Amino acid sequence: MRRKDLLARQVDVDALGEGAAISIERLKPGMALAESVFTSNGLLLLQGGTKISSFEQIARLKIAGVFAVVVQPEAGESPLKSPLEEEILSELPLVFKPREEVKPSGFAEGIRLARELLTNMRARIETLLDETAQGSGLGLDEFEEIAEMFVAMGRGNCWLASAILDEPAFSIESVYVRSVNVAAICAAIAPWLGMDADEANWLCVAALLHDVGMIPLFSSGAMKKGSLSSQHIEIMRTHTTISRRIARQMGHIPAKVIQTIYQHHERLDGSGFPRGESGARIGKQAQVVGVADHYCAMIAGRLGRGSLPPHRAVQLLLSVGSRLYAEEILEKFVRIVGAYPIGTLVLLSSDELAVVCGVSELDLLKPEVAIIFDANRLHIPTPERCLDLASEDENPEGITIQAAAELEKFGVNYIEWLTQ
Ligand SMILES: [Fe+2]
Repeated sequence: MRRKDLLARQVDVDALGEGAAISIERLKPGMALAESVFTSNGLLLLQGGTKISSFEQIARLKIAGVFAVVVQPEAGESPLKSPLEEEILSELPLVFKPREEVKPSGFAEGIRLARELLTNMRARIETLLDETAQGSGLGLDEFEEIAEMFVAMGRGNCWLASAILDEPAFSIESVYVRSVNVAAICAAIAPWLGMDADEANWLCVAALLHDVGMIPLFSSGAMKKGSLSSQHIEIMRTHTTISRRIARQMGHIPAKVIQTIYQHHERLDGSGFPRGESGARIGKQAQVVGVADHYCAMIAGRLGRGSLPPHRAVQLLLSVGSRLYAEEILEKFVRIVGAYPIGTLVLLSSDELAVVCGVSELDLLKPEVAIIFDANRLHIPTPERCLDLASEDENPEGITIQAAAELEKFGVNYIEWLTQ
């Protein structure tokens, strides 16, 4: 079995989840959505709980670029919440008290520094993007400086990609946060795709600028918070063209970077925009920005908006993303973000419950975890270290992950808690 198939199959074992992720091709009238559906820019298309009423509705989702959805189990099938989930729900607040001594320390510092860097960059990027969109910016230097800072975090560094900032609902603020988040993921992936520092820096510059065209759209009132109509989707589809125009005005940007910005919504199967390009006509860099952007859109504004937990988003990209992105890029993306991103709650084959605290370079399905409940569901108040499931020394019994859920569902933001 190929590695990707194995990964998709195992990630699909998701007993703690609330619904099944399916390709848009399998969606039928009568099915109900377990999760809200968004465009790749985070525009709400359908609320979670909506029952699909017609094939026309499905066709509209396809036109908007939706490739997969999470549907509720059919009536009479497994309940939305398992007894195990209820049990965890009642116990977790006890475990996640903001006490220094219960925080695993080995990886906390890395996450904290990455989070700090992203937060600082968020403030700088707001001013920079606004000035650039208005044509009053000082040029590329500041973007290059930020890009170099990200890239300097080093080869194989997953902290940046794990510490991405919470994105507000679709708004001009979400553009600033998304730009920083996408750049962070791109910086982490670049070395794995064989890019040298110069290529990685330019990829990050493209990521920082990829949605700059959204700023004039929001500023002019053309895009309104929470709005949805075919007119809005059409307006949104113009943003890559506007981004390209703004980037060109900055001067001295390599043509490849301009192309990356322009193509970041193009997809291999021709379903993207603005030109509906397909296959080899879409640059590798544009696909990397596209995957990172897509992932961020799926997990954006998680609390209260019902969008996807990170492991679900990875699962969707793995299961049906290969028609949209090159497999090599998808594989490297998962290598960085992890099949089970940091902060995911997992049930182990030993019947213990743990939180993912690090992505293993040896085996995507065997991350580092901190065990927080033993097999008898007694919580462990001081998970002092991470257990590396991929290490034979640390895990001689070969314990594996059986299922996953997201801590935020239980009111716990693990990254926030870790970095307090
Ligand atoms: Fe975009």
